[in-house]
Amino acid sequence: MNVSKVGKEIVKKIEKLRNDLLAHDYRYYVLNQPTISDEEYDRLMLRLKELEEKYPEMIDPTSPTQRIGGRPLEKFSNVNHDPPMLSLDNTYSIEEIREFEKGVLKRLEGVSMIEWVVEQKIDGVAVSLVYENGSFTQGSTRGDGVVGDDITENLKTIKSIPLRLINDGSKYPYIEVRGEVYMPNEAFLRLNKERERKGEPLFANPRNATAGTLKSLDSSIVAKRELNIFIHSYGTLPGSIKTHLEALEFLSNIGFKVSALREAKRGIDNVIPLIEEWRTKRHEVGYWIDGLVLKVNELSQRGKLGSTSKAPRWAVAFKYPAEKVRTKLKRIKVSIGRTGIATPIAMLEAVFVSGTTVSRASLFNMDEIERKDIRVGDKVVVEKGGEIIPHIVGVVKEERRGGEERFLFPDKCPVCGEKLIRPEGEVYYRCINVGCPAQIKGRILHFGSRNGMDIEGLGDVLVSQLVNEGILCDYADLYYLQKDEIASLPRMGEKSAENLISAIEESKKQSFNRLIYSLGIPFVGTYNAKLLSDNFRSIDDLMKKGLEDLFDIEGIGEKTASAIVAFFKNKRNMEVLRKLRKAGVIMERKEEGRTPLSLKGKRFVLTGTLSALTREEAREAIEGFGGRVTGSVSQKTDFVVAGRDPGSKLDKAKELGAKQISEEEFLKMIYKK
Ligand code: IVH
Repeated sequence: MNVSKVGKEIVKKIEKLRNDLLAHDYRYYVLNQPTISDEEYDRLMLRLKELEEKYPEMIDPTSPTQRIGGRPLEKFSNVNHDPPMLSLDNTYSIEEIREFEKGVLKRLEGVSMIEWVVEQKIDGVAVSLVYENGSFTQGSTRGDGVVGDDITENLKTIKSIPLRLINDGSKYPYIEVRGEVYMPNEAFLRLNKERERKGEPLFANPRNATAGTLKSLDSSIVAKRELNIFIHSYGTLPGSIKTHLEALEFLSNIGFKVSALREAKRGIDNVIPLIEEWRTKRHEVGYWIDGLVLKVNELSQRGKLGSTSKAPRWAVAFKYPAEKVRTKLKRIKVSIGRTGIATPIAMLEAVFVSGTTVSRASLFNMDEIERKDIRVGDKVVVEKGGEIIPHIVGVVKEERRGGEERFLFPDKCPVCGEKLIRPEGEVYYRCINVGCPAQIKGRILHFGSRNGMDIEGLGDVLVSQLVNEGILCDYADLYYLQKDEIASLPRMGEKSAENLISAIEESKKQSFNRLIYSLGIPFVGTYNAKLLSDNFRSIDDLMKKGLEDLFDIEGIGEKTASAIVAFFKNKRNMEVLRKLRKAGVIMERKEEGRTPLSLKGKRFVLTGTLSALTREEAREAIEGFGGRVTGSVSQKTDFVVAGRDPGSKLDKAKELGAKQISEEEFLKMIYKK
């Protein structure tokens, strides 16, 4: 820093303020032992800010003023992890950990007893932190284990991450530590409440909230999210350190918040009581623990054990099964989703489970209710698995008093009053009225989506506005939109209204298979739409077909056939089709330009996050060209499409020799066709 022009006294004063404030962060956020009041802290911070503003040449990335987040980034840069950030092998039973210990003993010839250090396994996001000469210089996500994102600015906002190391910490030219960033339960609940109020999508669990937050390019958002960290791993440390416990002690001494639980136990037999103790205690700590981690304490033994490409051989995770609680099922409500699926929802007496209060749970469908013999008034067992979405595991039949009632599925849509349909062989009831208010928005978005009529500029917010204003009541209304109606909406000008109108106009000539897809007939995705457009020349032709004709087409099953027939039988739907026709939408096959099923028979696996498409869109696109998407990599897999943060599927692909392609290559494959 160029401090030559700043007086020595000022430099000293600023540095003292910085170190004092960082020491207070440490005492408050790491040790939990604050020594000053919040007001005093704020006063010191204000004084520092004023001085830094007055002497901008004194700017320092490790100043506590840098914790509030700065200007948003364009994108994250890459960070290479050397050695790679590994994962852990999971076990779910005592037998499995005994087996694990046996394996370790076998590899360590001459050793008869392992000393294990037991830690909490926090379900958060793994990060790496690098310190050069005591200053925090780089923080990154795990990514695929080898390459992660540089999220230094985001991590700086976490107060339990030291920006400068204390005590002997500054003596070391380079230290890398790894840990878990997490969001405490209360912060998570507060955040979701706030998002609900604003109408933003909720995070399913604290881990997703943490991951979502850390992905933000705007560190000032991260600063508001109350994230925390604990450090559980490290790179090379001073040679005098011989055990994991000593290492954690050392890290704690130089300013890190290390694993809260770190108990050494000799032999698995002595670990088991701890596993039992934490089975319930894990719900009391205020953050989400999904298991314990057992690590070999002796670092020399770790060296001998080494690692596989995925996980160290000296550590293992023990995962607890999801927690179950009992509560009363008060009533069952039917909710209509954006695609018309009617889902029964259990309204429960509120109960606290795995860190949050649960008062609703999806019952999925009528079969599920019947299979589990769930009745209104029953005492039920609720479980919240890793994904936190609660579901009913079963009924406590011994507690039935006789007044419980079987649930009858309503025959009318609770939103629009049209008849609910349950296609042959199908588990869900559906409302197939394309004008049903619960579905209007979803159906219009589907109609204009990339695999459908592909109307550029028809986004979520705009459709919401048009629907809320009563301008759009179904997708056919799109073709009757007036420029003024669009231009008068907030954030829409003349030009964007014009562009939208011409994109809508353009879509009238869209290919027949896309039109069929965009109608939103249950089970008719891109693949089936293509089959139908290959077999019928027009909507009129398709409309006239009975179950038998449809069923005759190879690839169209009974369920789909009956959904198609029901769709065209619905009077409201026919009105909408008439409106489409009147507007000039082409409703027949153009003989030329038919896309061949060029991916016919090819099997795809998707892994990681795609940026241009959702998984669903990618699947639809692949199916539209005759390919198939499967959930896991096997010998038969042709392509593995790897998005950001791909999972273990990629390793499997390499092992089995399936071709790995990037999202870009995939898009070329699909959209050049
Ligand atoms: S040690 C070499 N200790 O769990 C692997 N990991 O499922 C070092 N995790 O990727 C990991 N708590 O992100 C370790 N006490 C703990 C942990 C922990 C949570 C995470 C970590 C790891 C994942 C594996």
